[in-house]
Amino acid sequence: MVVGHKAVTSGDFKLDDLPGSAGRMDILLRCVNSALFLSHGIRKDAEIHLVLQGEPDPPLTVRINGAEVRYLNPDERSTGALVRNAILKADAGEVRSSPGIYISRRSFADVIADLATRSELVYLKEDGEDVRGKRFEEDVTFVLSDHQDLTPEEEAVLLAHSPSVIRLGPLSYHADHCIVIMNVELDMRA
Ligand SMILES: C[S@@+](CC[C@H](N)C(=O)[O-])C[C@H]1O[C@@H](n2cnc3c(N)ncnc32)[C@H](O)[C@@H]1O
Repeated sequence: MVVGHKAVTSGDFKLDDLPGSAGRMDILLRCVNSALFLSHGIRKDAEIHLVLQGEPDPPLTVRINGAEVRYLNPDERSTGALVRNAILKADAGEVRSSPGIYISRRSFADVIADLATRSELVYLKEDGEDVRGKRFEEDVTFVLSDHQDLTPEEEAVLLAHSPSVIRLGPLSYHADHCIVIMNVELDMRA
């Protein structure tokens, strides 16, 4: 799960300006690529939640399921078009906007509470414990922030579920790079 603190919640954002007026949507779209794409395929056992918290109508959560998704390509622009289409279809409950892509009005707290019931929660954070000493359960959710840290309120919501707090290395990395590192780490252990 990735939090987009400024990622817009209106379906009229410009695909030509994903880092600017779309509120760093580019970060979230790269995270989709890192979570789901292999060189010649899709990770069918992976799912990503993007929590959009920008104006004008937050929160929205886009869920992309690797086993079901269709029409997903590795470039940011076409994934941006799928996310934009999802935002336009937001309604009560969770709506399927295209195969494998779902939109809801769930908040960060709602999504965390749901994922905590069906997976191990892991908070990826620069000052956590070294990933190399950590064993993961089969169903595991990694929580990352975008270009900003989680707010103290978001962190409190997450920590209330007692996640492991794990660091991937000694430096601060981009969120999408963290997902690649974590995927490779899990691949090596499988
Ligand atoms: C670009 S960083 C966040 C911004 C950064 N903390 C700052 O203030 O410049 C994006 C996210 O990647 C994750 N992250 C970055 N480096 C990490 C590391 N070494 N270990 C674990 N997670 C990391 C964290 O979830 C972080 O919120």
